[in-house]
Amino acid sequence: MDAEERLTLEKEIIKKAQDIEEIIKTYLPKEEGLQRTVIEAMHYSILAGGKRLRPMLMQETYRLCGGQGDCVKPFMAAMEMIHTYSLVHDDLPAMDNDEYRRGRKTTHVVYGEGMAVLAGDALLNYAFETALKVFDSCEVDGVPLADRYRAGTRALSILAKKAGIYGMIGGQNADLEAEEAGELSTDQLIFIHEHKTAALIEASMMIGAVLAGADEETVSALERCASHIGIAFQIQDDVLDVIGDAGDLGKSIGSDEKNHKQTYVSLKGLKEAEKEVQSRSEEALAILKSLPGDSTFLQKLTEYLIHRNK
Ligand code: IPE
Ligand code: IPE
Ligand code: MG
Ligand code: MG
Ligand code: MG
Repeated sequence: MDAEERLTLEKEIIKKAQDIEEIIKTYLPKEEGLQRTVIEAMHYSILAGGKRLRPMLMQETYRLCGGQGDCVKPFMAAMEMIHTYSLVHDDLPAMDNDEYRRGRKTTHVVYGEGMAVLAGDALLNYAFETALKVFDSCEVDGVPLADRYRAGTRALSILAKKAGIYGMIGGQNADLEAEEAGELSTDQLIFIHEHKTAALIEASMMIGAVLAGADEETVSALERCASHIGIAFQIQDDVLDVIGDAGDLGKSIGSDEKNHKQTYVSLKGLKEAEKEVQSRSEEALAILKSLPGDSTFLQKLTEYLIHRNK
């Protein structure tokens, strides 16, 4: 991809992220009532302008698998709520103790730790309240009601599992414990990446496919594809924590070293880490190319992520 192609793609990504932002806004609760503060903290953290990568992957996978209509929208918003909750909690003093996120002060710095814990909890809970709206909004011509319910229920179960102890929370557990542990093996490191980061990316692509009515074989190919994208994404995040620019990233750099995190970079060096990002991305691309349907944008996005600086 040359510089001009990259610029054109960047514009396309920004446009898609803006459209996703509008979708997310339609699902947020109103800032009112005696619970207003926690709702404000939810808005503060989720509307701070993240890359919206997970809902973008979900929407594009839905399209790739022939999905039409609005079924995917409540799940796109729900996924970004869960991702944002994971960041709000990840930044708490009891975890990574970071003060900047998405270009602004972290939620606990602005609202206090108690309110940040609640805002994270609230985003997680509201994610499921939102995803359940799939059963109100999902009117697709020609798709029988029983099939819609089956797909909606399956998507909910993927969302729950990949966010939980067998997914993101499991990975955060291993990540926290690794701070005090002896040197990790590559398998342990990959376990952390696969769970804390790839799990939500897997869920995003799988849910897009399931809601579009894809068969099991396609769903599991997309799970493998997303696993590579997710692991590459976390290795690049660790690279950027060392060589990135805090202004571009919108978050503090050097967080991993400060917290004695063992990362791909600290264990194997920058060069190896960059090679691994490249080869995982190639694996993901090969899977995308093997699927029927037009995956051009997903392929370009995967390539774009290899050299991302934010
Ligand atoms: C940050 O995710 C946490 C990781 C899993 C590395 P993103 O880099 O997608 O953060 P936002 O959503 O753009 O803020
Ligand atoms: C984040 O890993 C993973 C989750 C939030 C689940 P990091 O701790 O490396 O993410 P950043 O660097 O704070 O965004
Ligand atoms: Mg962390
Ligand atoms: Mg962190
Ligand atoms: Mg990081």
